[in-house]
Amino acid sequence: MGFVLVSAIWISGCAGGQLGKQNSEEYRNGMVVSASPDASKVGLDILKKGGNAVDAAVAVQFALAVVYPNAGNIGGGGFLVYRSAEGETNTLDFREKAGAAASRNMYLDSTGQPIVDKSLYGQLAAGVPGSVAGMITAHEKYGKLKWADLLEPAVQLARKGFAITARQAAELNDLRDKFVQFNPFGTALIKEGQWAKGDLLTQSELANTLEQIRDKGRAGFYEGAVADSLLLEMKRGGGILTKEDLKNYQAVWRNAVTGTYKGYRIITMPPPSSGGIALIQLLKSVAPYPLRKWGNHADSTVQVMVEAERRVYADRATHLGDPDFYAVPGKELMEDDYIRSRMKTFSWSKATASAVVKAGGIKGKEHEETTHFSIVDKAGNAVSVTTTLNGSYGAAVVVKGAGFLLNNEMDDFSVKPGSPNMYGLVGGEANAIAPGKRMLSSMTPTIIEKDRKLFMVVGTPGGSTIITSVFQTILNVIEFDQNMQQAVTSKRFHHQWLPDEVYIEEGALDSLNQSRLKSRGYILTPRGPIGRVDAILKTKWGYYQGGADPRGDDLSLGW
Ligand code: GLY
Repeated sequence: MGFVLVSAIWISGCAGGQLGKQNSEEYRNGMVVSASPDASKVGLDILKKGGNAVDAAVAVQFALAVVYPNAGNIGGGGFLVYRSAEGETNTLDFREKAGAAASRNMYLDSTGQPIVDKSLYGQLAAGVPGSVAGMITAHEKYGKLKWADLLEPAVQLARKGFAITARQAAELNDLRDKFVQFNPFGTALIKEGQWAKGDLLTQSELANTLEQIRDKGRAGFYEGAVADSLLLEMKRGGGILTKEDLKNYQAVWRNAVTGTYKGYRIITMPPPSSGGIALIQLLKSVAPYPLRKWGNHADSTVQVMVEAERRVYADRATHLGDPDFYAVPGKELMEDDYIRSRMKTFSWSKATASAVVKAGGIKGKEHEETTHFSIVDKAGNAVSVTTTLNGSYGAAVVVKGAGFLLNNEMDDFSVKPGSPNMYGLVGGEANAIAPGKRMLSSMTPTIIEKDRKLFMVVGTPGGSTIITSVFQTILNVIEFDQNMQQAVTSKRFHHQWLPDEVYIEEGALDSLNQSRLKSRGYILTPRGPIGRVDAILKTKWGYYQGGADPRGDDLSLGW
């Protein structure tokens, strides 16, 4: 029997400045929060069948590849942060890698300028997919239920189809031309006429591929018919991934990056994600300031957070990359003295100017797709997974005969030092392209402990905004006493050093706070939704509270 505790809470800051009512349900036995109601149901079912959090994560990852194809994937990669009920922590890196034939200047023209679309669309934009290896590696170490049983729900969803949401119908219609351009033989994502809410999306080629993975494990994806289809696709579109690239791909267990914030222990992802180190830098940067007293979204709070973000993203651009290729100075970047010295240069009267270097703007939200899910099981094991194709629907190429989308993760490398990628992020040597190297990420799956016990599981999509969305969600709970849903719903803002602008969601800052910040030289730029946080909080009474982001179709389910 599951426990459920239902209470009604009022949430401020909803669209149009209205107060909105949000039901908050709390559960005792476990919880799944993901970007798709269908995937959340799959995860909860696995938990109820006695699966642990890793089992549920595997099932949710594969289900998302079917029901959330813009970011859920088998053709992409991601990161998993794990904390057992007993407090063991671990992280799994299943990030994509550059193929062995990749080269530093592969996306530059003869004059040395980036050919932007080359790293964004088509077969050449893809890194070696890591998600299937990642799920197998996680399951081998921690899984309890049978592998095939975890794949079966995804197979069924692909084979029988699922009803798409209004949001998905609009996305698929918007991208129709792109899909036609990159999939001359057609794909299940293209429909005669327009997609509409409730239409059934069936993906029989993807179902066949998932069956191969279900029955043969790793060999069902990295070898055999599915691998052959991927290699044919490379040939067709000028991609560089080879049989050896697929065969050699391995997910890697890495020690978590950890740090403390006011007694809370942050357990998060090490490089090749920049997210973990940056998150701890951000939290340490603001720790000396009385944010709680100033209040959430007050000008002083925003100013301190923005100045921290400016400095941390500047560090990110210079110092972070794949640790297997570059000596990332992680320890130094997170040292208290270093962070104090960085924040010393901050003045209350005037915004610090970011260094003037060439950088581009942040593009529309449809380019910031990735997805996050948070899971806790009955025993209290927790899993935080962020997974991605990079852009929405990745490289826009669905592998013919195998039905899965290729990632366009190569754009996360610094294609040319100092030139911005699609998130406006700049980078240098640390994140330059090299054969077999993993591209730097911002994904920040995180688990937090309080008094050595599980406190929060959190993460989000959002490209470069991932780190600041996780940062704000954590502060919303710890500093501003919001419950999980409030913390997730709360409006967000974002600064990333370059471009030197503070991006704000509509309604994030009132006019008084905006004018105070502007008078100090901050450039405030309104923009659409930032991030899609899916998180779980364990209350002091031992119940799980979900936070499913209302910016998407996200759903938290518990029992
Ligand atoms: N592709 C987005 C990220 O890894 O940060």
